[in-house]
Amino acid sequence: MQQIKAKTESVQEIQKGIFTLKVLAPSIAAEARPGQFCNIKVNEDNFPLLRRPFSISEVDGDYISFMFNIVGVGTEILSRKSKGDIIDIIGPLGNGFDFVGDYKNAIIIAGGIGSAPFPYLFREIGVDKNVSCCVGGRSKVDIITYGMRNIFISTDDGSEGFHGNVVQLLDSKIDDFDKDETKIFACGPTPMLRAVSEFSINRGISCEISTESVMACGFGICQGCVIESTKNDGFVLVCKDGPVFNAEDVRI
Ligand SMILES: Cc1cc2nc3c(=O)[nH]c(=O)nc-3n(C[C@H](O)[C@H](O)[C@H](O)COP(=O)(O)OP(=O)(O)OC[C@H]3O[C@@H](n4cnc5c(N)ncnc54)[C@H](O)[C@@H]3O)c2cc1C
Ligand code: FES
Repeated sequence: MQQIKAKTESVQEIQKGIFTLKVLAPSIAAEARPGQFCNIKVNEDNFPLLRRPFSISEVDGDYISFMFNIVGVGTEILSRKSKGDIIDIIGPLGNGFDFVGDYKNAIIIAGGIGSAPFPYLFREIGVDKNVSCCVGGRSKVDIITYGMRNIFISTDDGSEGFHGNVVQLLDSKIDDFDKDETKIFACGPTPMLRAVSEFSINRGISCEISTESVMACGFGICQGCVIESTKNDGFVLVCKDGPVFNAEDVRI
């Protein structure tokens, strides 16, 4: 983990309301793994006070990229950064996806801005795996497929692809895969993650979910990001023990 002053290379609106921020961060790029995140101080002054966590969306040489939508003051400030701006970043943080293994099929499940970590995972997962991506959103404008291929789309309103949610889409596809040779990687809103977890546990399919929690420090000091663990009636920290967990290990 490093705290660095990163120089902004670019901010791009890749589709309406969805931005990528690319910064020069050689020391973080050298250590990063798919599924890890950074905690970003969005401003030079102390407003907003707390850093904001963002998944590492891609690593390209000495550069790392983030993908975000505007939900409040922090993301609005980030969307207005320009080339050369310096941003204070702590990372890489958290554990990342455990994507190396003997399984043959990887199924990526992304809901809305939950697509953010997947360009990096998709690229790193390796040519020996058959990677399929199920990407869901409320409507076609919410679908983010950036950096992914072999994509199946679902929309709640039926405006594009499968008419239904992304777990129903997964259900319609799952018989094409040998469940003992398949691993699911999911990121998106908590209700979606809950449904993916339940689905994979019931079917006996290995599944990792990238969880979210409101964060302050981002590295295990403030205890502000606890979620319930299914082991020993305990709790885990999203920032330090996660954000990626085996579906059966947490109650979200
Ligand atoms: C590990 C981790 C990785 C993340 N990765 C990404 C990413 O790659 N791309 C991305 O766009 N977002 C990501 N997020 C969420 C992102 O951190 C928040 O959207 C961001 O902090 C909002 O900052 P803001 O100042 O714009 O909004 P605020 O002004 O802080 O909040 C605006 C509204 O959004 C709600 N909100 C804020 N944070 C969260 C949250 N974590 N979950 C649910 N609601 C929230 C607030 O309650 C409020 O209603 C991630 C969160 C975590 C914990
Ligand atoms: S954000 Fe401080 S312990 Fe997790």
